[in-house]
Amino acid sequence: MGSKFAEIALEMYEHEVCTGYCHNKPEFGAPVKFDLTKDRDLEVIYKIRPEVIIHTAALTNVDECETNKELAYKINTEGTKRVVEVAGELKAFLVYVSTDYVFSGNKGMYKEEDEPNPVDYYGYTKLMGENYCDCIVRPCVIYGAKPASGTINFALWLIDKLRNKEEVKIVTDQYITPTLNTNLAKMLLEVAEKELKGVFHLAGATRVSRYDFALQIADKFELDKKLIVQSRIADMRWIAHRPKDSSLDTSKALRYLNEKPYELDKALDVLKEEMENVDRIRD
Ligand SMILES: NC(=O)c1ccc[n+]([C@@H]2O[C@H](COP(=O)([O-])OP(=O)(O)OC[C@H]3O[C@@H](n4cnc5c(N)ncnc54)[C@H](OP(=O)(O)O)[C@@H]3O)[C@@H](O)[C@H]2O)c1
Repeated sequence: MGSKFAEIALEMYEHEVCTGYCHNKPEFGAPVKFDLTKDRDLEVIYKIRPEVIIHTAALTNVDECETNKELAYKINTEGTKRVVEVAGELKAFLVYVSTDYVFSGNKGMYKEEDEPNPVDYYGYTKLMGENYCDCIVRPCVIYGAKPASGTINFALWLIDKLRNKEEVKIVTDQYITPTLNTNLAKMLLEVAEKELKGVFHLAGATRVSRYDFALQIADKFELDKKLIVQSRIADMRWIAHRPKDSSLDTSKALRYLNEKPYELDKALDVLKEEMENVDRIRD
């Protein structure tokens, strides 16, 4: 998501952008390499003296966080603490990108004031990171037109599978408010420009099951829905627990921001257009 943010901040809003990375050199913004687990690496930020820091870096592999707790805590919690310290010393406005996984998933349509209670270690480390921050945004299942940081998102994965006529198993008992990265990046920029403090749920406006999300993607891209087979969370070979319903209520974002959370149908129209542009540039 950091790369989409850099792209939008640079190309649409003409901000000066430096993009941090650890392994995968970014496409947009001046690349700045550092490892959040190495304190001394962060000294590079003092040289840049940013006015705003959007902290999106994290160990995001939920199962890896469960099996390598030490690394997850080092990156997601201690790394965030260190970034907050640097931002404080530089008087930079810091936006921390947290996650819907801070919630247990027992209820769904979580509001900003709802009590977090993560069911996995990833969510726990991200929540611990929140404790250091004044401005926290929480997205939910981010997707977009291009793979980022070497990983493919759910929408691209599904489209690829269905185009190759492969069958996919998708869970019907997990509920989300999927977030198009372009919409998220624009909302994030507004939060940063207005220097808003507090917690903001910056997600898509439509709550769907993972299965219905897949069906709607297939519909929009005119792919064979029969290849999408219903599955249940209990059938998945996941290591970490996942929240069953981590959908986020975005009404606060609706009140505060000019860029509104997209309804799913609109988001998929934008995704389709963006993917056609990516294909056009590639050809
Ligand atoms: N993806 C989602 O569905 C989702 C949902 C809710 C919230 N979020 C949150 O949104 C943020 C972005 O998620 P994403 O899916 O875009 O993540 P991602 O694709 O996994 O990217 C994570 C980024 O963190 C960097 N990073 C990882 N370890 C690092 C380290 N030790 N030092 C410095 N940088 C490091 C990676 O750099 P390299 O690639 O160079 O290693 C990469 O740029 C995360 O904070 C995540 O918790 C994501």
